Amino acid sequence: MMDIERIRKDFPLVDEYIYFDNACLTLKPYQVIEAVKEYYHRFPVCAGRSSHTLSNELNRRISSARDSIASLINAKGPGEVVFTKNATESINLVARGWDFRRGDMVLSTDREHNSNLAPWLMLKHERGTEHHRVPSFADGTFDIEAFEDMMGPHVKMVSMVHTSNLDGVTTPAREIARIAHDHDALFLLDAAQSVPHRSVDVKELEVDFMVFSVHKMLGPTGVGILYGREELMNELKPMVVGGGSIRNISYDDITLQPSPARFEGGLQNYASLCGVKAAVDYLLDIGMERIERHEVELNRLATRDLKDVVTILGPEDPELRSGIFNFNVDSLGCHEISLLLEENRILTRGGMQCVHSWYNKSGMDGGTRVSFYLYNTIEEVKVMVDSLVDLLA
Ligand code: ALA
Repeated sequence: MMDIERIRKDFPLVDEYIYFDNACLTLKPYQVIEAVKEYYHRFPVCAGRSSHTLSNELNRRISSARDSIASLINAKGPGEVVFTKNATESINLVARGWDFRRGDMVLSTDREHNSNLAPWLMLKHERGTEHHRVPSFADGTFDIEAFEDMMGPHVKMVSMVHTSNLDGVTTPAREIARIAHDHDALFLLDAAQSVPHRSVDVKELEVDFMVFSVHKMLGPTGVGILYGREELMNELKPMVVGGGSIRNISYDDITLQPSPARFEGGLQNYASLCGVKAAVDYLLDIGMERIERHEVELNRLATRDLKDVVTILGPEDPELRSGIFNFNVDSLGCHEISLLLEENRILTRGGMQCVHSWYNKSGMDGGTRVSFYLYNTIEEVKVMVDSLVDLLA
């Protein structure tokens, strides 16, 4: 069992609000806030350039941040973990930096976050690549046969969501990887909603690239991760080059550093990077399996008490929706419900949650999304249930 009362003492704001917008961004524990402050107090300098004491201390902090991410996802080592601004930038880096040519095809699901759709559409317009989408089943689950039927020699990259920010449904990543590889395609996994909530192992899932954001897993804002298999990372071109990413340069030529430095040109977001390890340590201390079970437990309660009152997006079974409870009602709009819930200090996200393409196709103008995390309680879910029942009475 998780000691929620002890956990809640680590988070400012949990007594002020019922925070159910965790799929967008999570709250931060004091341990993370202190680690960020420590940068400004104790070594507010540049990493990887000067060789003085303060810079060396920061270098150590950044290496241990990278090592902590590598060990969280079971990457081989630091060369496979690049720090970006967010998962969006990580996907853009792959889309821009891989050698895609006219006619190459990228395959996604029909329910991708804008960040796993827009870069591929830009590529289509700029380089003449193609982008196709595998239709999901009506309940949002993945249709592996439809996927296999769409695979062919033109598919160069399968770029798909792991856990959906829309309804919490998780795709069978390992089976997808195997099918992609059988057809000589690469596999990029958008793990922005899975890494913070469950154990994700890049070796076990056999992914080639994987992206996620630290701000969705208790960490500071402004840090995203691009994982890539070592062999691929030195074939991928950086989006930004400059100080820190260069091994040598003349007036005419550049030799880049190996990964990860080749992708991290220019001064980085050092303060936030200093909070990464504290966030990972916090999660691992509790244990990813326990976090996952806790969220499903809360979702089970919300589902049991609300399934006859609202229309839930995705499958009815909460086991299939992780910590996401996204819903609609006939009588009120999704933004209106969010605003009314806020009168009881319940913070949710109403709207299209950056999955405009799916909502547009489905003829809906959005949903009210409740998303849980490790500090949320059964009592908070009960307050939300009662508030909704009152609102809709
Ligand atoms: N992907 C984030 C969300 O779902 C922004 O809210």
